[in-house]
Amino acid sequence: MIIDTHAHYDDEQFDEDRESLLAKMKNAGIGIIVNAGSTISSWEKIRKLTKEYPFIYGAVGVHPDEAGTLNEEQMARMSVFLDEEKIVALGEIGLDYYWDKESRDLQKKWFIRQLDLAREKNMPVIIHSREAAADTMEIMKRHAAGMKAVIHCYSYSAEMAKEYVKMGYYIGVGGVVTFKNAKKLKETVQEIPLSSIVLETDCPYLAPVPYRGKRNCSLYLSYVAEEIAKLKGISAEEVVRQTEINSRDLYNLQRAE
Ligand code: NI
Repeated sequence: MIIDTHAHYDDEQFDEDRESLLAKMKNAGIGIIVNAGSTISSWEKIRKLTKEYPFIYGAVGVHPDEAGTLNEEQMARMSVFLDEEKIVALGEIGLDYYWDKESRDLQKKWFIRQLDLAREKNMPVIIHSREAAADTMEIMKRHAAGMKAVIHCYSYSAEMAKEYVKMGYYIGVGGVVTFKNAKKLKETVQEIPLSSIVLETDCPYLAPVPYRGKRNCSLYLSYVAEEIAKLKGISAEEVVRQTEINSRDLYNLQRAE
């Protein structure tokens, strides 16, 4: 089965047709979707989605663009959400120096605090990092050693990806890999082992070719799997088979017998 390790079905872009869209997943081979958290207001919506759909799991956390909304009270609330059975990770968290919506010191403070909470709970983390390569690496080394993590929507060098792989982390690959100009990501996929790659949409964003620019959804992950297969000279089935194993390991998802 295909596992989408990072989606945002709580987004209002799905309000019109969420139910009919999610009803199509099973027949298209999308067996599991992990819905990542980004804002404080997303947590309750995500919890509800995990209750309504057996194949949806969730993560809660606060995106670096929203770091200013965090405080001790919200950290305590997050901790309660993390105890829910189908909340399987803390995220997405990290650093975003592209938008720089919050001061870098504030982003770092709450990134580290959320990593500490994940360690306390023994839970994997979903990392968002944009134009903050060096600081992210440094914080992961100091605060996330030995933890399970995925560097989601990976956008840095192949060299750095190899370093993350050595640290035991997974690299999240989505629609961008199908873009003609995504030279760095294509090179990364060729240079790291398939055993370190997980599939993700980040939907509604980042739809793969031929849907680039449109609303993304998990149904399009087959295009991502095909591109990875092409880059690695293997079959798409092999990509799906191995990334399922990787995603189950990342989020501790047992196979239903
Ligand atoms: Ni995301």
